[in-house]
Amino acid sequence: MGELFLEARNISKAYEGVQALDNVGLSLGKGSIHCLVGENGSGKSTLIKIIGGVVTSDAGEIVIDGGHFHHLSAIESIREGIQIIYQDLSLFPNLTVAENISLNQMVERRTQVVDWKEIRAIAERALVELGEEIDLNILVEDLSVARKQVVAIGRALTQNAKLIIMDEPTSAITREEVDHLFEVIHRLKAKGIGTLFVSHKLNEVFEIAETVTVLRDGRKVGDYDASDLTNDKLTFLMTGETIEYHPYTVDSQVVSEPPVLEVRNLTRKDEYTDVSFSVRRGEILGITGLIGSGRTEVALSVCGLNQPHSGEILVESEPVTIGSPRKANQLGISYLPEDRLTQGLFQHQSIGDNTVIAILRRLLSKLGLIDWTEKTRVQDHWVNELAIKTPSAEVSASSLSGGNQQRVVLAKWLATEPKVFFLDGPTIGIDIGSKSNIHEIIRELARKGMAIVMISDEIEEVRNNCNRILIMRKGRIAGEIEDPTSVDDAEIFRQISGKNGSEVPRT
Ligand SMILES: Nc1ncnc2c1ncn2[C@@H]1O[C@H](COP(=O)(O)OP(=O)(O)OP(=O)(O)O)[C@@H](O)[C@H]1O
Ligand SMILES: [Mg+2]
Repeated sequence: MGELFLEARNISKAYEGVQALDNVGLSLGKGSIHCLVGENGSGKSTLIKIIGGVVTSDAGEIVIDGGHFHHLSAIESIREGIQIIYQDLSLFPNLTVAENISLNQMVERRTQVVDWKEIRAIAERALVELGEEIDLNILVEDLSVARKQVVAIGRALTQNAKLIIMDEPTSAITREEVDHLFEVIHRLKAKGIGTLFVSHKLNEVFEIAETVTVLRDGRKVGDYDASDLTNDKLTFLMTGETIEYHPYTVDSQVVSEPPVLEVRNLTRKDEYTDVSFSVRRGEILGITGLIGSGRTEVALSVCGLNQPHSGEILVESEPVTIGSPRKANQLGISYLPEDRLTQGLFQHQSIGDNTVIAILRRLLSKLGLIDWTEKTRVQDHWVNELAIKTPSAEVSASSLSGGNQQRVVLAKWLATEPKVFFLDGPTIGIDIGSKSNIHEIIRELARKGMAIVMISDEIEEVRNNCNRILIMRKGRIAGEIEDPTSVDDAEIFRQISGKNGSEVPRT
């Protein structure tokens, strides 16, 4: 591993009813690139927060550069060179790039007078160090997620970071941006700055990590050299089982039925052009393409969130106008948003309330009272079905791990029992074991007669689960794969990117 920088020793942490961490140790070398992996709720974020001093452990100690801390505070952690970049990045959207990068340092100096020159100079230095160019005067809210990440890393550098911790940094950025982030991580390493990285995308873990630590249920499974692991081996270490997929097929009867949903020549200027497709009951139709290919925009249009400029939508062969999500719901169309951490979850309400929020009308009696027995039945059913890791559906959604929060949003839309269900990135942020559970639930819903449209940039996910795949490129349907078992990932990747398929696909 080289020279040791940080050691977490015998860390334990319990929350009400949950042992989040049980006697876990972690050693990080100076300048090393280390991945932390494990299923949803296995304790990854908790361990990170303890290293960052924002959560206090019940037992154990943190040793940084030879200094021992039993109750490491956030200020001490920062002083020791640890910087955490949370998924929400904690930037100020209405301040400029320069201000965001320099703010902490200016505050620390307790400067009375705002020295604009100095603010720019600090920010410029940080960006030069990263080898990045971003207009310092731009407001952060106008940047893409990937650029915001760079700003957050820049800010970390101004705080003399020796270790940068990133909790699922790649879940909301495009593949090209992931490549770029990995370059930045290598540049940091060249300067002796280490990275600790959480990801559910195992192929990324293999690409970037030198060392991998696996957690399961709050316990450490082990530390491994990334070069000694394979996808299957790592999956097994995380879940304790091997996962196999069987192709999803529909029988000929389904194929002869009229479609539930048909889209004809749908166009929205600058977003997508002349998009036509249909989906039948029992089908899982995959739509894949790069971020920006128009796949999400089309789905939003069909779900009443993004008005098309021309074209037709038919539900059960009747032409319809879908002017709002409410109208879509009345027609039996639901949409699971891609960005679920910010859309669609009420953090401070209970898991149960979040689950039934979209079907409240159904739970109301004639007198306008809520049918509590039915509410409890529905919420317990989905907590069970989606294996949401919680002591009870009555606790607040904010107490759940990230991946479990995502399941609550999934439950909310499943409870509406739609006829057509658009799932945009249904398993983003969800661990590999639960991913296959969720895939099985989606298949079961389709088998029971729901029409499913699965939008994903993970080629493997659509190939494993869909009976038919549409490929979108630059706002158009660029191809259709009638039999996903007949093609390999490289071929799909070639169609998605419009490039030659010699390169190995990396989703
Ligand atoms: N503030 C809290 N209150 C109660 N329980 C909590 C709290 N924070 C975390 N937990 C529980 O601790 C356990 C570990 O959660 P943690 O967030 O560390 O998981 P994770 O490995 O980061 O999962 P994910 O991949 O879903 O993000 C979970 O069971 C979670 O419900
Ligand atoms: Mg987490």
